[in-house]
Amino acid sequence: MVKIGYLAVVGATGAVGKEVYALLEQRSLSVEKLILLASARSAGQTIKVNDHDLIVEELTDESFQGVDYAIFSAGGGVSKKFAPIAKAAGCVVIDNSSAFRMADDVPLVVPEINPGDLDGHQGIIANPNCSTIIMNMVVWPLHQQNPVKRIAVSTYQAASGAGEAAMRELTTQTADVLAGWPVEPKVLSHLIAFNLFSHDTPIGEDGYNQEERKMIEETRKIFHVPDLPITATCVRVPIPRAHSESINLTFANPMSAKEAREILSTAPGVRVIDDVVANHFPMPIEASGQDDCLVGRIRQDVSQPGGCGLELFVCGDQIRKGAALNAVQILECLITGGYISKYP
Ligand code: A2P
Repeated sequence: MVKIGYLAVVGATGAVGKEVYALLEQRSLSVEKLILLASARSAGQTIKVNDHDLIVEELTDESFQGVDYAIFSAGGGVSKKFAPIAKAAGCVVIDNSSAFRMADDVPLVVPEINPGDLDGHQGIIANPNCSTIIMNMVVWPLHQQNPVKRIAVSTYQAASGAGEAAMRELTTQTADVLAGWPVEPKVLSHLIAFNLFSHDTPIGEDGYNQEERKMIEETRKIFHVPDLPITATCVRVPIPRAHSESINLTFANPMSAKEAREILSTAPGVRVIDDVVANHFPMPIEASGQDDCLVGRIRQDVSQPGGCGLELFVCGDQIRKGAALNAVQILECLITGGYISKYP
C-alpha cells in the first residue's frame, strides 16, 4: 500500500478529477486526507470516495496550506493562477493543463518513458497532452530498439478531451438529431453528433492548430529529441472518451511488422490487438475505461523504401492514460521514487 499525505484534487467535479479519485481507490493508494476542490458553483456538493462522504470546497489562495500534493485538472487559467500559489505553500503540483508543459524548469513526464525527468523538479510537474501520451506509449518502445526518424500522425479525438460538458453535449445532441429537433452547438464549436471536425483549437501562422503543435513539441521534449520531424492532423470525432490515432513511422533501420508486434507485446501499458483473421483491431469502445493503450493494424508501410516504414493504429482512454492515470502514476513515482508498473 503506497501512502500519500494530504492530496488535493483541483477540478474534482470534472471528467478528469473524478477519474483521479476513482484511481486512488483502484490502485490501493492510501491518502491521509483527500481535499476536493472546484469552483464556487460546486462548493458544498457531496462526493462519495472510498465510502466516505467528502464535501467539495471552493478553490482559494488558502486551499494548499499543509497539502503535500495537488493534481490540477481545471484548465490552463486555473493552473496558471493557482499552481504557483500551491507551490509557494510547499505543495508539489501535477498539472494536467498545458500551462507549464514547455517551461524549461517543468518536467513533462510519461512514467513508462521518462520518469528520470522528475529528478530535481521545482515543484510543478506537467502531465502531457492526451493525444501525445497515447501516441508516445507505442512509439517509444519501438524508438528504443530502432530510432524513429519521422512521425506522421492523424487523430480521431473523443469529446472527453473538451471535458464533461462536451461529453454531455455529444449525448444530448445525438438524441436531439435523432428526434428531429434543432440543435445548436454550445460547448464544442461545431455539431459533434453525426459529424467530425478539425480540432477546435486556434490555428497558428504555420497552419497547424494548437493540439497538433502540442503533439509535435511535447513529443520532442519527452523523447529528448528536440528536432524530431513530426507532423500531425488532429480531428474531433463523435466518440465519448477514447482517442484513436493512425501513426506512420520512419525508422533509421528496417523494422518488420513482426518485430514491432513483438516489441509492443511486452511494452508496459500497451496491449496488442491485431487479429487479422477476425478483423479485430483497436476500437475506442474497447479502450474506454482501460489503463492500456491498444495497438494494432501493425504493418509495413509499402510506400517507404528499404522496410524502414511502419503503420500503426492506436486507441487509448483519453481520461485515463491520457490524463488521470498518467497523473496518478507520476504521483506514485514521486512517492516511491520509481515507476510502479502493473507488470511486476
Ligand atoms: P465546477 O464543476 O465547479 O465548474 P471538465 O474538464 O470536465 O469541464 O471539468 C473542469 C473542472 O474544473 C471542474 O471540476 C470545474 O469545477 C473546475 N473549474 C473550472 N473553473 C474553475 C475555477 N475557476 N476554480 C476552480 N475550479 C474550476
